[in-house]
Amino acid sequence: MQSRTAFQSKTVVTDLVLPSETNPLNNLFGGELLARMDRAASIAARRHSRRIVVTASVNHVAFNRSVPLGSVVTIEAKVSRAFTSSMEVYMDVWIEDRESGESIKANEAIYTFVAVDETGRPVKIPELVPETDLEKQRFDAALRRKQLSLVLAGKMKPADATELKALFE
Ligand SMILES: CC(C)(COP(=O)(O)OP(=O)(O)OC[C@H]1O[C@@H](n2cnc3c(N)ncnc32)[C@H](O)[C@@H]1OP(=O)(O)O)[C@@H](O)C(=O)NCCC(=O)NCCS
Repeated sequence: MQSRTAFQSKTVVTDLVLPSETNPLNNLFGGELLARMDRAASIAARRHSRRIVVTASVNHVAFNRSVPLGSVVTIEAKVSRAFTSSMEVYMDVWIEDRESGESIKANEAIYTFVAVDETGRPVKIPELVPETDLEKQRFDAALRRKQLSLVLAGKMKPADATELKALFE
């Protein structure tokens, strides 16, 4: 199976924040952003694996900055590492300043997707080759995050989480 680069999975989704998508402070509702990120990440995971993909886990979301009504929001999603059937997708969220046109980083998120066959059974996917320094950084940390996610989901014993243990030794 031929390996693919992170760039080959790159998915950029740009959309507006409308009144029906905001909270009482007129900022984007968190669940709406989660859904938009899920869509962008699933496209990136599909581009990497070229298979049906399902969301296995939302590993990390940081709502560092509120996103006001009327904002232009851009989500950039890329697969950061591929394992056997699962992929970590890293997302950066930007909002565009109306007057300057400058992009301001608003949020970050990491989701895990699993490639499956028509019956929903996990299938093998190509390896991912990171190219830039940032892609390499994210690739290196992805195994640690996978182990943490599996431990939190009760799917891995903490004693088997070698990458996590190494952090504290
Ligand atoms: C995701 C799903 C396919 C995993 O199935 P499973 O029976 O646990 O299969 P496995 O144990 O073989 O795991 C498959 C892969 O997912 C990974 N995985 C499973 N749960 C995970 C979690 N919580 N965090 C990170 N990775 C996870 C496993 O580590 C494995 O990765 P690998 O093959 O790359 O090593 C299955 O749980 C599922 O279909 N869930 C529902 C998905 C869905 O409907 N999502 C939308 C929600 S509305």
